[in-house]
Amino acid sequence: MSQRTPLIAGNWKMHKTPDESVAFVQNLQATLENDTQVEVVVAPTSLSLYPVSQVIDSKRVGLSAQNVHPSPKGAFTGEVAPSMLQALGCNYCIVGHSERRQIFLESDDFVQQKVEALLQIGIRPILCIGESLQEREDNLTFSRVSTQLTAAFQNLDATQALQVVVAYEPIWAIGTGKTATPEQAQEVHAFLRSQLQERFDAQTADAMRILYGGSVKPNNVKALMQQPDIDGALVGGASLEVDSFLQLVRFQS
Ligand code: PGA
Repeated sequence: MSQRTPLIAGNWKMHKTPDESVAFVQNLQATLENDTQVEVVVAPTSLSLYPVSQVIDSKRVGLSAQNVHPSPKGAFTGEVAPSMLQALGCNYCIVGHSERRQIFLESDDFVQQKVEALLQIGIRPILCIGESLQEREDNLTFSRVSTQLTAAFQNLDATQALQVVVAYEPIWAIGTGKTATPEQAQEVHAFLRSQLQERFDAQTADAMRILYGGSVKPNNVKALMQQPDIDGALVGGASLEVDSFLQLVRFQS
């Protein structure tokens, strides 16, 4: 077992009103063990970040945004700047989620700009990468994730890289109930860590956390987390109820 602190992050996507988000966090904090060895993070919608920031106990639960614009300010209707997330006490921000890449056509280059803008302001990016079903079937998994990883890290030094959490999310496993097997996920995680080692150094690569995402549920989280290079999970559907989210956080018991 590595020394990396496991991280379980709930990506609520476009679910929960501000009131529902606040109630979830209050309920979670009332139930979560004080001595948990797992880092717990929730990612509400942008509109819920402020009310959640008012009730969150940041020593126990981290706050993540789901998206950001790389510019500090400007004429970008509907977008949110890094400093606005920082003002609300966000510790993390998801970037490059496959839904943003596929539905909103975000490029590797745009994702890279977001990563850099967040790091400049002290918010840790949760960088999502992953292949489509077609790419997997065409044996392009490694080259796809390698391209995404290389693009995002191209201007970073090792100190900055250590602030980034990578999330491997095979697109065919997201919201489909079709999880990658622990072995399939481990194979890609080990590959990503070796890429990070080549790009930076062994110590940096060893310290960085690589999460798995894609239909993580209470009944499969343990087997995934037993893999040596899987350091946590980015969870959609199973993070929406306090009960199932807590079961994920308690994967060790
Ligand atoms: P899922 O979503 O757990 O519902 O598959 C994961 C994600 O999109 O991060």
